[in-house]
Amino acid sequence: MSAGSDSGADIGVIGGSGFYSFLDDVAEFTVDTPYGPPSDSLFLGEVAGRRVAFLPRHGRGHHLPPHRINYRANLWALRSLGVRQVLGPCAVGGLRPEYGPGALLVPDQLVDRTKGRTQTYFDGVPRGDGQQPNVVHVSFADPYCPEGRAAALATARERGWDAVDGGTMCVIEGPRFSTRAESRWHAAQGWSVVGMTGHPEAILARELELCYTSLALVTDLDAGAEIGEGVSHTEVLEVFAENVGRLRDVLFDVVGRLPKDRECLCATALNGQDPGIALP
Ligand code: ADE
Repeated sequence: MSAGSDSGADIGVIGGSGFYSFLDDVAEFTVDTPYGPPSDSLFLGEVAGRRVAFLPRHGRGHHLPPHRINYRANLWALRSLGVRQVLGPCAVGGLRPEYGPGALLVPDQLVDRTKGRTQTYFDGVPRGDGQQPNVVHVSFADPYCPEGRAAALATARERGWDAVDGGTMCVIEGPRFSTRAESRWHAAQGWSVVGMTGHPEAILARELELCYTSLALVTDLDAGAEIGEGVSHTEVLEVFAENVGRLRDVLFDVVGRLPKDRECLCATALNGQDPGIALP
């Protein structure tokens, strides 16, 4: 992999807790957006002949808690570099005993339990020349890209990681972890894993007609288990650190596997509606 001279990219990787770098040979770019600065610089390089932009979701050194991440700026910055396909690895807690530390899920559903995060670019606020209504409603029945999911699953399994196909990610506001009662309730709903950053990342990607795939690495069994102290941030980081090498390897291979020509519905998510703002 190499940095090259081009400032463009077509695939974005947003690294989560414990995942602060992806490529070794990178060019660093500072990108500004109408929504303010993204979490950090974007690091551009090449993997398997594809241009990749890496962005540490919490910033290098993890200075941004989940509720303070500027998700709109992050996705906008990636798109402004040319990115159309986004991989979103993240740490999650398992809500079922079989999804213990080290399990990898490629979820196909999410439930939003965040509170008050800005989750749209199309908030009716006139932007640009102020003439456009800036109201759009996108379909979100299937929040993740089917092509990205297929690529992630096939790659992980090829590398010997028995990744779980599908499941529901419950996204809580954080930054605190769940109480035992909340955790048991989430599990009783049939949800699979719990995290803090999957929303609004996925919907904002959809609004920008980006493909978005979540790769959820289980770091703990949340608080629902009757034993133990419940999850701690130290535990999350330790388990993530144990697995970040193989997650990185999987991501490299997924990059090489993502289709160059998108045939999924993500690419036309606005479905002809006028966004009222020029997408970058
Ligand atoms: N990220 C990693 N583990 C988590 C948990 N148990 N709850 C919420 N977010 C998490």
